[in-house]
Amino acid sequence: MKQFVKFSPLLILVVISLAKISMVDAATGMNPPVKLVWHYYKDTCDDAETYIRYQVEKFYRNDTTIAPKLLRLLYSDCMVNGCDASVLLQGPKSERTAPQNRGLAGFVLIDKIKQVLESRCPGVVSCADILNLATRDAVHMAGAPSYPVFTGRRDGGELNPDAVDLPSPSISFEESLAYFKSKGLDVLDMTTLLGAHSMGKTHCSHIVNRLYNFKDTGKPDPTMNTTLVSQLRYLCPPRTQKGQTDPLVYLNPDTGSSNRFSSSYYSRVLSHNAVLGVDQQLLYNDDSKEISQEFASGFEDFRKSFALAVSRMGSINVLTGKAGEIRRDCRVTNTNYAA
Ligand SMILES: *[C@@H]1O[C@H](CO)[C@@H](O)[C@H](O)[C@H]1NC(C)=O
Ligand SMILES: *[C@@H]1O[C@H](CO)[C@@H](O)[C@H](O)[C@H]1NC(C)=O
Repeated sequence: MKQFVKFSPLLILVVISLAKISMVDAATGMNPPVKLVWHYYKDTCDDAETYIRYQVEKFYRNDTTIAPKLLRLLYSDCMVNGCDASVLLQGPKSERTAPQNRGLAGFVLIDKIKQVLESRCPGVVSCADILNLATRDAVHMAGAPSYPVFTGRRDGGELNPDAVDLPSPSISFEESLAYFKSKGLDVLDMTTLLGAHSMGKTHCSHIVNRLYNFKDTGKPDPTMNTTLVSQLRYLCPPRTQKGQTDPLVYLNPDTGSSNRFSSSYYSRVLSHNAVLGVDQQLLYNDDSKEISQEFASGFEDFRKSFALAVSRMGSINVLTGKAGEIRRDCRVTNTNYAA
């Protein structure tokens, strides 16, 4: 990255994007990740994407929180052992039960879509593709750009909850970047994907350390805007009493309940108003700071970069060909389905 620092962030985006894409499609700026294809279900379930969009739209009209929920679900699936829909499996020792996956939601919609597709084209469309397509549609409804989702993923098996390596929301920039790099993503992907925090909520337990006793200083995180410290202290008590629930706060109080996709997340990073520690850290690295500045003032750049980054995340370690299976029910593997 260092060699790019002297250029403008926009140039960084262009240079990196071009390096990633060998053959740029004129219409979309994207080409299929290795192994996945454009309209994989064309011959086997031609209307699959239409059915999915219809169900997402119906759900979204009643509940816009589905956009941040699906994004988190996709992230939790793809970052851990690849986009194989393993996070959708239910069970007492399933991946879903890992502490980092507490509060995951959106399963109901995915299950509904799967039911519809099974009635139209039984045994054809994978849960992993459904999750990717439904997320694309929901965030598009929320204000993100639409982007081509290349398909052909197959579904994986169960994963031990101990294998869930999703990092805590208060890790340092370096730790966070090392994590994204371990998944084949870079600083631009990370800075862009964290922008998903322009929507949705988080538990107070993820931020109380920043509000009351940052790194055992007995003081709030010095990088947090003092006005925000007061506002969040009001919503998040230092500790919850036994039996009390862990309150939820908006990740981006500017958009709050509208759940609109916007670039105000980056303006908040720049004015020390990020809610999560990992978000505020973007200000303390030259590359992520420049990218944040670019996105704060250029919504279109953020939108384009977002489409590319989610698409890249959606192709981490995918199972294709004869690997994995096409689940009949997204909640159980076929072996357990038959049982
Ligand atoms: C609409 O969404 C709310 C949650 O926001 C849910 O409780 C309710 O059942 C939904 N209604 C329909 C018709 O889906
Ligand atoms: C704190 O936030 C306000 C806006 O809410 C902003 O005007 C101010 O510049 C911020 N302070 C710092 C130190 O960034």
